[in-house]
Amino acid sequence: MSLSVGNLRPKTPNGIGPANHHFIYPQILQMSDTVFVAFASQKGGSGKSTLTALAASYLYYLDGVDVLVMDCDPRQHTQKDYRDNDKRVTKENPAINKTFTKFYTKFNKRPYKIIYSTPGAAVDDAEEYVRQNPEIKVVLFDITGTINDLEIVNLISSMHYLLVPISPDTGDLKSSLRFAVNVKERMIDSGDTSIKDMKLVWNRVPGRQKTKICELIDNYLSEFQLSSLKTVMTYATKYFKDGVIAGASPTIFRSTLLPPDRRLLKDSNLPELIKEIREVIKV
Ligand SMILES: Nc1ncnc2c1ncn2[C@@H]1O[C@H](COP(=O)(O)OP(=O)(O)O)[C@@H](O)[C@H]1O
Ligand SMILES: [Mg+2]
Repeated sequence: MSLSVGNLRPKTPNGIGPANHHFIYPQILQMSDTVFVAFASQKGGSGKSTLTALAASYLYYLDGVDVLVMDCDPRQHTQKDYRDNDKRVTKENPAINKTFTKFYTKFNKRPYKIIYSTPGAAVDDAEEYVRQNPEIKVVLFDITGTINDLEIVNLISSMHYLLVPISPDTGDLKSSLRFAVNVKERMIDSGDTSIKDMKLVWNRVPGRQKTKICELIDNYLSEFQLSSLKTVMTYATKYFKDGVIAGASPTIFRSTLLPPDRRLLKDSNLPELIKEIREVIKV
């Protein structure tokens, strides 16, 4: 694929368009095939930050894909909180410390980089980092906020791929659908953005398969030429246990420093999800 970092920025009303970037970083135009990906939706609590961290860790620690994570919410740096927490847990819990040492003895790389940024600066910050570190294949942006905020609109339209978490819970459902339809009609169909594809991702599903509601909504989505991934993420307690892990043989599911524990991966659908995402983003 010949996507260029220099082409990421949409033609925004403020006039800063791809042309400026051609001028600034011409050498990257032919070289970089880094993809910008975001789990995005208007709805807080739909799983954007969780799925961002899970995907980043799986890709980096298990699949060996170089990733960068952009933490784009200046008010609530979730990825930074995750990392701080993961460091603390690793330090305090001898069993996790042992897992950590064992893993990094073989892994030979540092933990992936998390950059703390803002919606307005995130694309530039990411481009700058990728320019210095061209091995980065995937940049995952953790975005919050609403579609009415121009900086967030610009940021979302600068992504190559959008993954919209959606859950069968009614409040989440309506708002995620509205978000996806808005992005499709106002951004993707206008053809004036970097977005190549958008998929909805069922999260917090009671079970490992799509429920009747998921199927009904999938049918509804097809009327808007939208679709969801086949894999669903089950509602499970392992999502909120990290950080309060205690005991002699704790297991970690979502960590920014370590891959998910093999025992917890079983039945999680995460390997299937990452495989499907890699097909979508072509990495
Ligand atoms: N599949 C899931 N099962 C159970 N809890 C989940 C699941 N996905 C996310 N959560 C929990 O839901 C809460 C909100 O998730 P978060 O990723 O912070 O959402 P967002 O970033 O969209 O606001 C967190 O406490 C997270 O642990
Ligand atoms: Mg979040």
